Amino acid sequence: MNLNLIKFIFVLIFLFCQESQDTFFDKGLTPIETGFETEKSKLSASYCKSCHAKSHSTWEDSIHRKSWKNSLFQHSFELEPMDWCIHCHAPLISQKKEIYLKKSGKNSLSDEGINCASCHLRKGKIYGNKKNQNSFHEVIVEKNFGSPEYCASCHEFNFPTLKSGSFKFSHEPMQSTYSEYRKYGSEKKCNSCHMENHFVKGPHSKNFLRSIFATAEFEFEENVLFIAIEIIKKRAHHLPSGDLFRSLSIELSYDNFKTKFFTKKFARFYKMGQKDSGTIWNRELEYDSSIKPTDSLIRVAVDIVKKKKIDYRLLYYFHDPELGGESKAENSFLILQEKKLNP
Ligand code: HEC
Ligand code: HEC
Ligand code: HEC
Ligand code: HEC
Ligand code: HEC
Repeated sequence: MNLNLIKFIFVLIFLFCQESQDTFFDKGLTPIETGFETEKSKLSASYCKSCHAKSHSTWEDSIHRKSWKNSLFQHSFELEPMDWCIHCHAPLISQKKEIYLKKSGKNSLSDEGINCASCHLRKGKIYGNKKNQNSFHEVIVEKNFGSPEYCASCHEFNFPTLKSGSFKFSHEPMQSTYSEYRKYGSEKKCNSCHMENHFVKGPHSKNFLRSIFATAEFEFEENVLFIAIEIIKKRAHHLPSGDLFRSLSIELSYDNFKTKFFTKKFARFYKMGQKDSGTIWNRELEYDSSIKPTDSLIRVAVDIVKKKKIDYRLLYYFHDPELGGESKAENSFLILQEKKLNP
């Protein structure tokens, strides 16, 4: 047989065996078209709510639902208003249109952030990873829907470089949760740790975040303070992961945090990369002190002034001012533990 014909047959077989992945995102390169653009009412979560009350109520409380109106996002979008951001934080093309026409706001489609339609509607059909015979509507089953690779299609991407208007990804990872996850080979899927129906358990849920750490233990020896904090929840990627301005921080003060005499941060620290004229967002990782999933004990030893009372706290910054500059957003950090120590 002709060699080219054999190659052609192989390509056909390969394409045939590929799972179709209509539901995956493209890391924010383009907005999402659903095929329902002419039936606007079906794009809102309130359409699905009538029959899927549980999915709706759990989604309603989730961070995915807040991904657009969230003040942390809104403040950083003000500084860097790129189409690219819209494609992940309010992915539908109809949401983008609203945002451009400044029709966003309460009860608008963009206000719904990542909604049912963003994840479930494509090509005029409803997609899922299983279907019930009694479905009121047709359901296209896609095996990989909800897989770690699916989550990665929004949760893993490189820094953009924007040279006089044209968008390109650099080679430097901006969020690398999925490759961290792959590196440590967890057998659990993202969903099994993070999703309760459509509620997203993560750092923005206080109880979830606080339950990750055991109460810190303190020991004094001469003029040294030893602190040990055990991480008791199973993890599969670095802590923190995700957004570049996250940090976990241990802080000590003698004056109720008017000033701090000790800070230890777990985070990724970036410096500005080479800055050609007109290039923004070109960053390079300087060093990485985030905690690997294989490490379960945080330990620090600190020189102290004997007999002075010490204030201790453990914080989680969603937006660490040291990494990302001051933010006007409220809730940019959460105090996880605090204690007055009497040496
Ligand atoms: C008029 C009622 C109705 C509306 C509106 C509706 N659905 Fe459904 N849907 C059903 C029923 C009934 C099933 C069968 C399974 C069940 O009972 O939950 C189903 C099944 C599904 C499934 C497959 C899961 C399974 O167990 O079969 C998905 C995914 C789904 N719907 C998503 C949606 C989304 C997203 C919307 C909004 C765009 C929506 N549905 C609107 C009634 C509805
Ligand atoms: C971030 C993407 C995302 C959003 C937003 C989302 N879903 Fe889902 N949905 C999923 C995934 C992934 C699954 C499969 C979960 C699994 O594997 O157990 C799913 C499962 C379902 C199912 C099947 C039953 C179940 O719970 O397993 C229904 C019904 C459903 N979603 C409806 C909705 C409705 C209604 C909304 C909006 C209120 C919505 N979804 C928003 C991703 C999403
Ligand atoms: C359409 C893009 C998109 C998809 C698909 C997506 N996410 Fe997200 N996810 C986001 C965005 C954007 C945020 C940040 C929202 C915010 O903080 O305002 C987020 C936040 C999160 C968080 C942080 C929660 C917290 O409390 O801080 C977790 C955990 C998460 N997603 C898990 C998942 C998992 C698991 C999947 C796959 C089933 C998934 N996501 C699919 C875009 C997506
Ligand atoms: C074994 C459980 C487990 C698995 C599996 C897991 N995570 Fe997490 N994840 C956690 C815990 C615990 C946290 C909170 C601590 C932290 O920030 O790392 C977290 C935090 C996050 C955050 C918030 C990061 C931040 O610092 O703000 C995101 C986003 C996230 N996970 C996404 C994912 C995605 C996507 C996957 C799959 C590729 C995944 N996770 C797999 C346990 C898990
Ligand atoms: C490829 C998808 C994608 C794009 C594009 C994207 N983001 Fe995000 N963004 C995410 C995900 C996923 C998270 C959640 C990470 C985490 O929880 O740590 C997130 C989190 C954030 C957060 C933290 C929100 C919080 O509640 O703590 C801010 C702020 C943010 N993004 C701003 C932006 C801005 C501004 C842009 C455009 C310059 C942008 N994002 C582009 C996916 C994206």
